[in-house]
Amino acid sequence: MRPGNHTIDEQRQGEAVGPRSGKEGGRKLYLESYGCQMNFSDSEIVASILTDAGYSTTRNQEEADLILLNTCSIRDNAEQRIRHRLQHLKGGKRNNPKLKVGILGCMAERLRDKLLEEEKLVDLVVGPDAYRDLPRLVDEVEGGQKAVNTLLSREETYAEIQPVRLDDKGVTAFISIMRGCDNMCSFCVVPFTRGRERSRDPQSIVAEARDLFAKGYREVTLLGQNVDSYKWNVDAKGIVKDETQPVVRFAQLMDLVSDVDPDLRVRFSTSHPKDMTDEVLEVMARKDNLCKYIHLPVQSGHSDVLKRMNRGYTRDWYLDRIAAIRRIMPDCAISTDVIAGFCGETTEEHEETLSLMKEVRYEMAYMFKYSERPRTLAERKFEDDVPEEEKGRRLSEIIALQQEHSRERTAAQCGKVYRVLVEGPSKKNAEEFQGRNTYNSVIVFPKGDAQPGQYVYVRTTDHTSVTLRGERIAEAEAQEAGYIA
Ligand code: 5AD
Ligand code: SF4
Repeated sequence: MRPGNHTIDEQRQGEAVGPRSGKEGGRKLYLESYGCQMNFSDSEIVASILTDAGYSTTRNQEEADLILLNTCSIRDNAEQRIRHRLQHLKGGKRNNPKLKVGILGCMAERLRDKLLEEEKLVDLVVGPDAYRDLPRLVDEVEGGQKAVNTLLSREETYAEIQPVRLDDKGVTAFISIMRGCDNMCSFCVVPFTRGRERSRDPQSIVAEARDLFAKGYREVTLLGQNVDSYKWNVDAKGIVKDETQPVVRFAQLMDLVSDVDPDLRVRFSTSHPKDMTDEVLEVMARKDNLCKYIHLPVQSGHSDVLKRMNRGYTRDWYLDRIAAIRRIMPDCAISTDVIAGFCGETTEEHEETLSLMKEVRYEMAYMFKYSERPRTLAERKFEDDVPEEEKGRRLSEIIALQQEHSRERTAAQCGKVYRVLVEGPSKKNAEEFQGRNTYNSVIVFPKGDAQPGQYVYVRTTDHTSVTLRGERIAEAEAQEAGYIA
């Protein structure tokens, strides 16, 4: 997943853009999202459902009638942050007694009505599969009651709901292609908060991509907890449901979405090493608009730890998948997730994680200390026995090594010519634009006459540890230089 857009625990507020926003005099919704890209994507569905029910979104918390926090439970500190946020909101409720506060997402699902007891200012608790019920629940709350719906579903994919895009740049967008997760990694709370895995109708996914392209978007990220197990018209045992219709797995879905337009870039997140097929890699290799970037969480470099984590692969299996990526797309960028100090992790096992990182040399990584989560397999079966200090020490080693690799990777990308999708002004200098190359690396360059949403050619001349800087060049010159698409 991309830096900046998906820092876990990152928080973002959104205001709806487009024709359905801003009904004068209507009720105002302030929506705040935490956690993964899937949560940000869900917030756009929530905004859509509530805009249809007469709300308009606002960026100004002071003028809101309803504040919704779309929450994350992945680690204890994610939940603590949201608890702090709720403390802050108490002041807002004192100033405006009519203000209603709701909790959505994973924390709502995990804690359910307990949240109402624990956090007195919360009026509304709604889990990830119950957003269609929001208008009714909000009405109940406005009538002075408290309301809860945390029913999980085996079918809900919100397939036909047209998300209200909360990112006002209008260049990149998320498309949810599936929901839930059946993997049961022993450390992970997601199967409990997001329920069983289900895939969304491919036609509705392609239609959404087409619609985004028509509106000027130039990049979509296909989202799922485990995109490699996307399947349509075939059950878990591989039996085709309707013989008259094609079976669509992730490789075919990518093919379909990439056919929307050669100028629509397609990314995806997250892959699972146990399910990632060569077929997917071959489709990626064939098409320039399928970006050469794979996020392949490893979690640990030792097979015994992977077994305790119930990941379904060994170190060798994982390295074989890396070898397949390198064979089929020698230049593909690879990033990962790593957990330090999982239950029973010995120093030797930790060293194996470092050695695997040295073997793969990831472009980028998200790195975490293990945080025990209630109800998970690990909580029930293993002791969280690596002392906090030792977890911190191991994590620091992992981070230091990754920084070395990231720097090395950025340096290797310097001096080349890339086709860059312009996203918007650079974070540090309003006179410059930033965009990304196919490898998901951020590239900064002087604005000139470029526009967000446009593709430009940039020769990189300079770099910091993670950002490249360069000069825009003409297409003919880029072609001569053999640019990277
Ligand atoms: N503790 C620490 N990190 C976790 N992750 C998931 N559950 C936990 C946990 N209990 C990390 C994994 C996953 C990423 C989204 O968050 O690395 O890939
Ligand atoms: Fe957090 Fe996981 Fe829920 Fe995403 S799915 S919001 S990362 S707990």
